[in-house]
Parts: sequence; C-alpha cells; structure tokens
Amino acid sequence: MNGKPLTVAVVGATGVVGRTMIQVLGERDFPVGELRLLASGRSAGRSVSVRGQTIEIGEAVPEAFEGVDIALFSAGADISRELAPAAAARGATVIDNSSAWRMDPNIPLVVSQVNAHDLEGHEGIIANPNCSTMQLAPVLMALRDSVGLERVVVDTYQSVSGTGADAIAELDGQIRAHVAGEPKVATDYPHPIAFNALPEIDVFLPNGYTKEEWKVVTEDRKILGLPDLRISCTAVRIPVFVSHSEAVHVETRDPLTPARARELFAAVEGVVVRDDPASHEYPLATEATGRDEIFVGRVRQDISIPDDRGIAFWVVSDNLRKGAATNAVEIAEILVARDWVRHASDRGARPYREAEPLAEAMA
Ligand SMILES: NC(=O)c1ccc[n+]([C@@H]2O[C@H](COP(=O)([O-])OP(=O)(O)OC[C@H]3O[C@@H](n4cnc5c(N)ncnc54)[C@H](OP(=O)(O)O)[C@@H]3O)[C@@H](O)[C@H]2O)c1
Repeated sequence: MNGKPLTVAVVGATGVVGRTMIQVLGERDFPVGELRLLASGRSAGRSVSVRGQTIEIGEAVPEAFEGVDIALFSAGADISRELAPAAAARGATVIDNSSAWRMDPNIPLVVSQVNAHDLEGHEGIIANPNCSTMQLAPVLMALRDSVGLERVVVDTYQSVSGTGADAIAELDGQIRAHVAGEPKVATDYPHPIAFNALPEIDVFLPNGYTKEEWKVVTEDRKILGLPDLRISCTAVRIPVFVSHSEAVHVETRDPLTPARARELFAAVEGVVVRDDPASHEYPLATEATGRDEIFVGRVRQDISIPDDRGIAFWVVSDNLRKGAATNAVEIAEILVARDWVRHASDRGARPYREAEPLAEAMA
C-alpha cells in the first residue's frame, strides 16, 4: 500500500498480537514512516529488529503518543482504558484490540469486510472485535443479506494463543511434562490444557455464560446491526497453538441449500470454502495458521430445522491474524484510503469525550 508515511505506534509490541501486527504492517507495505513500539516498563529499553532496523521499545505512557497518527493497541483492556483516550486526545487514531471499548455505543466495532461504513465519523477510538466474533461475522453477514438470520448457535474450539504468550508456553510446558512423566502445572488456566478441553474462557457471568461467550453474542449483534439476533455460544479452549475453529448452526428465515450456502460464503471477501468430505477436505487449524482468510467447510443442511431453513458449518481462522492483527491493519488501510486518519475535529467529527459508563452488558 502506498501513501504519505505515517507514524504508527504498536502498544503491546512484545505480545503475540503486537508482534503479529508488526509483521502484518510490513507484509502489507502499510505506509509506516516511524514505527513506535511500546510495552510495559518491564520491556522498555529492549531492542527488537524489524525489517533490518533496530527499534528500541518504549514505555507506553501518554507522552509516547505525541505525533502518532495511528496507534494499534493490544496490551489488555486496562491499558486501553487508561491510554487510548490519552492517545486520541493527542490526535492519534486508536485501533484497539481489547474488550475495553467494543460495546460503547459511540465507538465503532468493525470487521473490515462487514461494516467498514461504521468507521465514518469515528471519534478517535475504533474497536477491533474479539477473535471468535471476527471469523463468524463475515459468514453470518452472507446469510443475513440473502436468506435472513433467525437464530445462531456457535460452539468454539479456541487455541491457546488467544490467551497470549504465557499460555502458549504453558501448553508447550505441559506437553513436555507429560512426555517426561512429570506433573502438568497449570497457571494461566484453572486446569491443565494439554490433552484437555476447557469450557471456560474468561470469567463466568451471573447468567451462566462466560464473558468470551457473551462477547460473541453482543459483538456479533452490534457488527451485524441486528440487536435482537437470537444467538448463543459455548466457548471451549483446546490444546491447539494457533487458530480458532467454530461449529455453527444457523436457522435462516428463507430456505437455503448447502450448495447455495457455499456460493454465498465464497462470495464474501476473505472467505474461502474448503468443503470436499469425500477427500477429507475441510478447514483445519493447522492449515489456517499463518493465513489471513476465514475458511468454511462441512456445510450441510441442519436436519433439526424444518423446511430447509437450517444450515450447519465449520469455520476456522488464524486468531492472531484475521482474528486480531490483520483486521486492525485492514481498518487502518481503510482509514488511510478514505482520509479518516486525521484528528476528529479536522474531519468534522466529534472528538473523543471522557467515556460514559460502558454498556458492556453483564460484564
Ligand atoms: N491473542 C489473541 O488471539 C487476541 C485476539 C484478539 C484480541 N486480543 C487482545 O490483545 C491484547 C493482547 O493480547 P496478547 O495475546 O498479545 O497478549 P500477550 O502475548 O500476553 O502480550 C501482552 C502485551 O501487553 C503488554 N503489556 C502488559 N502490561 C502492560 C502495561 N502495564 N503497559 C503496557 N503494556 C503492557 C505486554 O508488554 P510486556 O512484554 O512489557 O509485559 C505485551 O506486549 C489483549 O487485550 C487481548 O484481549 C488477543
């Protein structure tokens, strides 16, 4: 991508998402003039090599955002709540990966190929959806726009990289411990994740869902513009390093054949259909890893719903790329292309104001 070089900050630059952001910015030739890498005080002063250039990591403090055009945040919700307003007040456009702002009605929550129009008039902070939401929204959009959505049930099979660098090390350590005949030590998760499936991602809410499941429910409703969509989720952590898989069952308003559903999915930008059961071809976490696309397969009629209004399928995507970094960079590209990076007041938009209490239901 070409354009005026911009000063881009990556907050959480030492984390798995931050490092993927740096990689994706380079791969897509995003017009970076200066790359400012920020993390906690623990990492400040360390140097990293980016495309042959040595960059010193700085501490993420408000002053670090002076002169920044775009700030990509992936350092957790607390840091985002504290520093995103400070960055926006200094004229940066923040694209935030945490859950801090996603359900704020004043803040766009955007999947690049679904609702880029929501970026118009942004107030300086934009939210990147949760990884499980990200890979689901584009395929649901295809059904919403053609046959209508009545009800969605999604069960996720999520990789440990969705938790972060420590959880990757924890799974690795538990596998080694198992092979060595030693006890498996769990710190990031309440139980060993190796050789297990944990139906607990993020905290439990009073309604019995986990916060991860509730994010899928509320974020999909917001992104798709369907506040009353009947949608439910069970989120499960599995011992896979990268890429989330999802089993999805959808009741549609109008009848839909699997063949037509495959056509609809394949027509969505960034979605690839891999669906040939006879040759054992369907989306796999191992094959999605390192790719930007969302893979869909196992498309079949859901026989529990009458009149051919049920469709079931399997969706897989790299949670670090499309599920986080790639979508954030795609949002940045759209902002550049539409000249929406400038400070809100220069674009005639309302500048970011001190937040009202967040509408993060049940949180
Ligand atoms: N992993 C995913 O698939 C995924 C997907 C979507 C969204 N996200 C979100 O992205 C964020 C980061 O996730 P991750 O998986 O990359 O986690 P991670 O690997 O644990 O990395 C965390 C990053 O946050 C930084 N950080 C921690 N405390 C900080 C502080 N006080 N000030 C500044 N920086 C601080 C860390 O810096 P130090 O190295 O200096 O501690 C590190 O760079 C989270 O909000 C997560 O919810 C993750």
